[in-house]
Amino acid sequence: MVNAATLWIHERLQQRAADGLLRKLPQQQDLADFCSNDYLGFSRSPALKAKVFQAQQAHQDSPLGATGSRLLTGNSAFAENLEAEIAAAHQVEAALLFNSGYTANLALFSSLPQKGDTIIIDELIHGSVIDGCRLSFANRIKFKHNDLQSLEDKIKRAKGRCYVAIESVYSMDGDLAPLKEMTALCKNYGALLIVDEAHAFGVFGKGLVHLAGLTNDVFAVLITFGKALGAHGAAVLGSHLLRSYLVNFARPFIYSTAMPFSNLLQLQTASRFLQENASLQEDLQRKILFFQQCLFAGSAIKIRQSPIQAIILPGNEKVKRLSRELADQGIAVYPILSPTVPKGQERLRICIHTFNTDQDIEKLCFLLLKDINPHE
Ligand SMILES: Cc1ncc(COP(=O)(O)O)c(C=O)c1O
Repeated sequence: MVNAATLWIHERLQQRAADGLLRKLPQQQDLADFCSNDYLGFSRSPALKAKVFQAQQAHQDSPLGATGSRLLTGNSAFAENLEAEIAAAHQVEAALLFNSGYTANLALFSSLPQKGDTIIIDELIHGSVIDGCRLSFANRIKFKHNDLQSLEDKIKRAKGRCYVAIESVYSMDGDLAPLKEMTALCKNYGALLIVDEAHAFGVFGKGLVHLAGLTNDVFAVLITFGKALGAHGAAVLGSHLLRSYLVNFARPFIYSTAMPFSNLLQLQTASRFLQENASLQEDLQRKILFFQQCLFAGSAIKIRQSPIQAIILPGNEKVKRLSRELADQGIAVYPILSPTVPKGQERLRICIHTFNTDQDIEKLCFLLLKDINPHE
């Protein structure tokens, strides 16, 4: 039946298609993976799979589903012990599990900042933080990406309690925040710093906040389990008080069914596996360096330690074409289009993994060099 609403939906989709921006669920192809967030190969690790299977065998009586929210029937001693284990590993007072990083950011930014408060976000912050801010009545302002002066200017103008949101590794550019300086700045002005470590956790130890010894100076840290841990879910790390506040006021936590036991078990197993196999992080660094040597041979290597390597090639059509050409050659790299990134900043977002072979990395670089000039 066609009515005004369906007509409107149809028109919006048609406009998207006309702009060359229509999103479709991709068919997974058997290509060399240079695009997923499975940095350490955990989602496909036979050794980890065997450990998860073993753990499942030992918990055959556990329920399949969580049966309710954590505040109703969905809580368990296992979940609370896992949170305590995560908190101890990160040397924080408490951790609270969330079903995803997206819901954890919604929870933090919708529940903490109140009317009259200010949330200051890096201009490149992840969409989940922005959506969380949209659910809050606080004022939201942006500061220039990774720019300390811009951040300080905004903090000086902030009203009410001031929250600052950054990522330690930025998801689209793969660059790192000046964490020490930003933490010091926030401390100086009494601003509450929240650091999203989605792309740092498991890639750089337990995250860059922990590595830099800044845990006590940061108000909250978000780690996610869908990337280096190869699983699903997230945890907010902070004080007992913060955990208790989120349990009481964070609607994405309160009004959602808890994680199923199978997921909790996978998280526990994968977290321990990560600690036992810390050398994988060095393997990843070696692969990243090899990629950079292949691509930038003969010139100063742009050291970007994160596995996210953005190659900016302005224009949606150009990055789409390159991505298609790479797929034809057996390599999966996704194009990131505007408006996901600002116009002119369209890019190939290359993710390096421990399991990428040197031959595949060489092939990728060889194909890229036909189309790009890395020295520009
Ligand atoms: C920086 C950042 N934060 C949060 C999220 C959301 O995490 P999840 O995929 O667990 O919902 C992502 C995922 O893309 C991310 O890149």
